[in-house]
Amino acid sequence: MVIFGAVVVSAQEGGGAGLTIGFSQVGSESAWRTSFTQAVIAEAEARGINLLFSDGQQRQENQIAALRSFIAQGVDAIILAPVVETGWDEVLQEAADNQIPVVIVDRNVTADESLYITRVSSDFVHEGRLAAAWLVQATAGQCDIVELQGTVGSSAALDRQQGFNEVIALFPNMQIVQSQSGDFTRTNGKEVMESFLNAVDPSTICAVWSHNDDMLIGAIEAMKEAGIDPGQDILTISVDAIPDIFQAMVDGDANATVELSPNMGGPAFDAIVSYLAGEELPRWIPVAGGIYFPDTAAEELAARSGS
Ligand code: AHR
Repeated sequence: MVIFGAVVVSAQEGGGAGLTIGFSQVGSESAWRTSFTQAVIAEAEARGINLLFSDGQQRQENQIAALRSFIAQGVDAIILAPVVETGWDEVLQEAADNQIPVVIVDRNVTADESLYITRVSSDFVHEGRLAAAWLVQATAGQCDIVELQGTVGSSAALDRQQGFNEVIALFPNMQIVQSQSGDFTRTNGKEVMESFLNAVDPSTICAVWSHNDDMLIGAIEAMKEAGIDPGQDILTISVDAIPDIFQAMVDGDANATVELSPNMGGPAFDAIVSYLAGEELPRWIPVAGGIYFPDTAAEELAARSGS
């Protein structure tokens, strides 16, 4: 128990003690995803929530099976972090038929809004716009860009791409010259970057726009192996703000990252508690993030890695 001034706060502050909540997670494809999982588990423990965790290993069928298992066990609520946008209608209807509230976290679904109680997430379109706005000012609106896309069919990839493209469309000398999915993983980011470097003359590439930091870390490796100085010869912009990207900035290998907060467990649990208490919820509970550059990278690295 902690005492703040006159207010007594128990370990279960925030509510939900005694609830059983199923959490279907995408997988562990990125460092961001792992810290998001850890944050949800820690928040559940602090609140005394019995969390049933399922790792979908990036496969929608695993996530649908997990949801059906949660429904069969009669959980009080479900938190779904969906791998892709489409294909959830049937299983969400099954949860609704069993009066089990579902909160969507992080990526979006195309299912009817009546099938879930709210969504806790960042604004992916805004992240894409922010990334492009930085690149516009860094290059005076002249840049041939290679793009590492996230998982095909995921709202994180679709919306970041939409936001980025909206902004660069305003600048006639900015264009995407190569674009392919690296599935949000380091290994694929490296392989796809290698293929870009073979497909076009590397000296004509001005920047790499990566839908997450992990793919960019892989791309940085590929550039170094090809004798290119990342962050100098080719500018970089990515999303997540994980400790490794701050290390890359400290090393002079990366230029900017748009933050995606992994702290969505608290708002998701709060939403469930409010819903079960009969309160009305907004359709969307936004999670904010900033944009970071090398000037504060050492500080951010120390703060985020606890070193
Ligand atoms: O859905 C959010 C994205 O998923 C993160 O940006 C990426 O790292 C993760 O895999």
